[in-house]
Amino acid sequence: MRQLIAAGNWKMNLTYQEGLALAEAIHNAQRAEDILVILGTPAIHLAGVSEILKDSKQVKVAAQNCHKEEKGAYTGNISVGMIRSTGADYVILGHSERREYHGETDALIAEKIKLVLSYGLKPIYCCGEKLPVREAGKHIDLVAQQVTEGLFHLSAEDFQKVIIAYEPVWAIGTGVTASPEQAQDMHRCIRTLIADKYGAAIADSTSILYGGSVKPKNAKELFAQPDVDGGLVGGASLKADSFVAIINSF
Ligand code: 13P
Repeated sequence: MRQLIAAGNWKMNLTYQEGLALAEAIHNAQRAEDILVILGTPAIHLAGVSEILKDSKQVKVAAQNCHKEEKGAYTGNISVGMIRSTGADYVILGHSERREYHGETDALIAEKIKLVLSYGLKPIYCCGEKLPVREAGKHIDLVAQQVTEGLFHLSAEDFQKVIIAYEPVWAIGTGVTASPEQAQDMHRCIRTLIADKYGAAIADSTSILYGGSVKPKNAKELFAQPDVDGGLVGGASLKADSFVAIINSF
């Protein structure tokens, strides 16, 4: 059975102190036991949050990005080695905000994924279409292309360490959530694509998360879909009560 996951993406929110307090509150909250919780914090927060969660088997830490080079003259950037040294286990890659505001391409993200895996960290690979693409009926083709170009260079062994997050861009931060049927349709297509490439057993064990205006009020219906294995949550992950409500929605 595949792992169910509630992941938070704090984006560029929360001071260091606010971040530590939120991590502490989630760590101490009454949570469903079999759900893996991942906190995607700003780089500045990684070490402090990892320290709070160092004995937790259920709550893990993710960076939101990394540079494609291992080290060097890249002012302001964060390397994979730095991320690993904080105690974080995951790196979110290919988020639509990175694609949109920093021009990240599938090819660049594919390189970062390889590097992250070579450091023993696990990627959370984001994909998803913008509204005009969906309106043109091309969303499945586009996401298939993102998944193929971003991930299918990996060996089967490495691919099994990847978490996929389908985040339709039109649903991010808009309050317009994909319907459970829209999410299920896309997740099913992604899983079929994985099965064609790596076989049914690997496809069945890959966690595919939905992201885009996941809230306590809609999480249960989304997570009830057979191919939706959890969520990547932005706004609603910034407060302990709403994020814990989402964690407890499976
Ligand atoms: P919201 O939950 O705020 O829509 O953000 C989703 C997201 O981008 C998570 O990575």
